[in-house]
Amino acid sequence: MRDQIIAGNWKMNKDWDQGLSLVAEIQKMMLEESSDETKVVVASPYIHLARISEMVTQSDGLYLAAQNCHHESAGAYTGEISASMLRSIGVEYVIIGHSERREYFKESHELLASKVKAVLDHDLIPIFCCGEPLSIRESNQQGSFVNQQLSDSLFQLAPESMRRMVIAYEPIWAIGTGRTASAAQAQEMHHSIRQHLAGQYGKEISDEVPSLYGGSCKPANAEEIFAGPDVDGGLIGGASLNASDFMAIVRSL
Ligand code: PGA
Repeated sequence: MRDQIIAGNWKMNKDWDQGLSLVAEIQKMMLEESSDETKVVVASPYIHLARISEMVTQSDGLYLAAQNCHHESAGAYTGEISASMLRSIGVEYVIIGHSERREYFKESHELLASKVKAVLDHDLIPIFCCGEPLSIRESNQQGSFVNQQLSDSLFQLAPESMRRMVIAYEPIWAIGTGRTASAAQAQEMHHSIRQHLAGQYGKEISDEVPSLYGGSCKPANAEEIFAGPDVDGGLIGGASLNASDFMAIVRSL
């Protein structure tokens, strides 16, 4: 049975007090609902991580993620944060290769491969994002496009490392646009991703890797999207900034 995960990607939102209140609200709701089957992950900005790390130790089922990290463990890289630093404060997951980082920060396949390695080397779990832009979807090449992203950045991994990955499929045309993939489109891509992993690593490993959907996932559409047998949860942007919406999505899983 694969992990079922809902991860909230706050992106560059929430000041100190706002971020801590949001986590406190999520914790309170989780306690009331005692939903222990889903892993609930919060990917806050760096400034909140150490404090939230102390908070999540008191909550079963709540985990902490960073939104990025540097590929080296330490050194003269002004402004950067390493996987080893994240590990030292109890972070468990790191989002790698979000389309915003690929686009605005020009992160290449090679760089993403080295970040994934750094995250795994420090015993953290990468949530590796993939997904096609609108032009690729319109020319119906999303399957091969996403397969290439996976091959380029992940297929250097040993089988025991691939086992520890989480994949997030996020069609770029659905991120923050209010336009979401249909449940059928999501399932089709998640299935195609699993087939591609199976081709390289075998069915047993591909069946173990959780695959999350991201892109305008909201309380109103989450249940339908998560019904796909290859969809193991969601990476939630906008709707993760509000505790009630976020927890409604957790409940739909
Ligand atoms: P969205 O973002 O839910 O706001 O579309 C998803 C993401 O970018 O991870």
